[in-house]
Amino acid sequence: MRHKAIINYLHEAKQDIDISSYGSRRPDARLKSHNKKGDIMDAVECIKKRMSIRAFRREEVPRELLVEVFNIAKWSPSYKNSQPWEAIILSGAKKKMLSKMMIDLLKKGEEPRPDLAEPQFWPPAEESRINHLYKTRAEATGIDLKAPEVIRKSKEANFNFYYAPHVIYLFQDSSLSLWSLFDMGLFAQSLMLAAHAKGLGTVPQAFSTDYAKQIKNFLSIPETKRLVIGISIGYPDSESTVNKFRTDRVKTEELVSWLE
Ligand SMILES: Cc1cc2nc3c(=O)[nH]c(=O)nc-3n(C[C@H](O)[C@H](O)[C@H](O)COP(=O)(O)O)c2cc1C
Repeated sequence: MRHKAIINYLHEAKQDIDISSYGSRRPDARLKSHNKKGDIMDAVECIKKRMSIRAFRREEVPRELLVEVFNIAKWSPSYKNSQPWEAIILSGAKKKMLSKMMIDLLKKGEEPRPDLAEPQFWPPAEESRINHLYKTRAEATGIDLKAPEVIRKSKEANFNFYYAPHVIYLFQDSSLSLWSLFDMGLFAQSLMLAAHAKGLGTVPQAFSTDYAKQIKNFLSIPETKRLVIGISIGYPDSESTVNKFRTDRVKTEELVSWLE
């Protein structure tokens, strides 16, 4: 039995060696794995098939299911088990009001001031991966994320939370160190994996924190907290072309070195 499990694992690992064109050849492979019944999903499948969802069905997610997602995510590790994460879930009219507030600020030309500054520079390796993402996404969807008009529209779509029925804002005390930000990243990934295993779609959105001060004020989050990320969540619209675009990953050899 153990032997069989190891063989299966090695088989998966072998597939992992080169998935650089995985996305373009099998665009909807990940979507198909969404588990509508919310049954338990294999961890490897869950990690590999989660993807950012940018079109959602309208129906709300039952509160018990959202609670269940948090019940799972909170088992994430953290520095000295400090669990440096807090969350607010917005739905319905409140979510719409926040979207409107952000879109109005955008239209007024308000300068974005997220608590975690948007990167102004990328080292060459990361920059070339970002360019690759823009190029492949433009080819697959016709959406060129470098065009100014598209950038503005894309911001609006972000501020509308891609019409997801809910958005989760994650925040933590600003006095916490970078380690706690690291912990928050782990928590966010656990949350997205738990959601995926339960048949839900998510997208983490740095843009949704653009107007941090005003958002915190709207959500009654104290100024002393750092707004880390918004994660839109709902049932994925599997018909939407935007959800059919799959990102790819570099070869494993490119990120791992071996010393013996
Ligand atoms: C910290 C972080 C911030 C992100 N911000 C945004 C965002 O503002 N808007 C958006 O549409 N996607 C955003 N994304 C999603 C990334 O574009 C996406 O994770 C990446 O392209 C890989 O695709 P995948 O999630 O489908 O695997 C963000 C992801 C992370 C981890």
